[in-house]
Amino acid sequence: MVYIAPSLLAADFSRLAEEVGRIERADMLHVDVMDGHFVPNLSIGPAVVEALRKKTKLPFDVHLMMEEPLAYIGVFRQAGADIITFHIECQDQPQAVIAAIKASGARAGVAISPKTPAEAIGPWGEDLSQITVMTVEPGFGGQSMMLDMLPKVYKLRARFPQALVEVDGGVNLETAPLCKAAGANILVAGTSVFRAQDPYLEMRCLAM
Ligand code: DX5
Ligand code: ZN
Repeated sequence: MVYIAPSLLAADFSRLAEEVGRIERADMLHVDVMDGHFVPNLSIGPAVVEALRKKTKLPFDVHLMMEEPLAYIGVFRQAGADIITFHIECQDQPQAVIAAIKASGARAGVAISPKTPAEAIGPWGEDLSQITVMTVEPGFGGQSMMLDMLPKVYKLRARFPQALVEVDGGVNLETAPLCKAAGANILVAGTSVFRAQDPYLEMRCLAM
């Protein structure tokens, strides 16, 4: 059983509500938040999350690619985030960020960029609901998956059995089976789902 999380980054931003309607049967909506510092790009902020919250019942999996996520936990939770993921490479202390996410009532996740080893997640990883293995350099959609990241997936599954392991970047019909074989529980898929003629069929095939 694998969950599919379409990434909003690949949607047509001129008609977001309709785009979310096309993937209503997904398991969750992945929302990429970029601050222009942690990654060289800007994307979606809390106002968009709040507006979309009124349009769908899908759980929101909010991926904070931010230098200082701690200051924004409350505002994203308020806007409707169900799961909040921050990067281990950020400036804030992981324990403090996890505590703030949990205190807000959201589920906590951590993401690790390609250059960061799985071992960088300390014993505090036991407090997480989700661990995201980045299979592209964060910042942009539509990149090719770095397959050499997949061993991190099975290492983390074995070390933190309470957490779901998510793969983010370059998931498509070719790479999804490899992610599943490595033990991934959640597949983030932007380009492959939103640019598919039939997103529902694409999601079914990715999950198979
Ligand atoms: C990259 C983002 C990903 C990305 C995935 O910084 O975290 O979620 O949008 O997009 P695709 O599926 O197109 O690689
Ligand atoms: Zn993401």
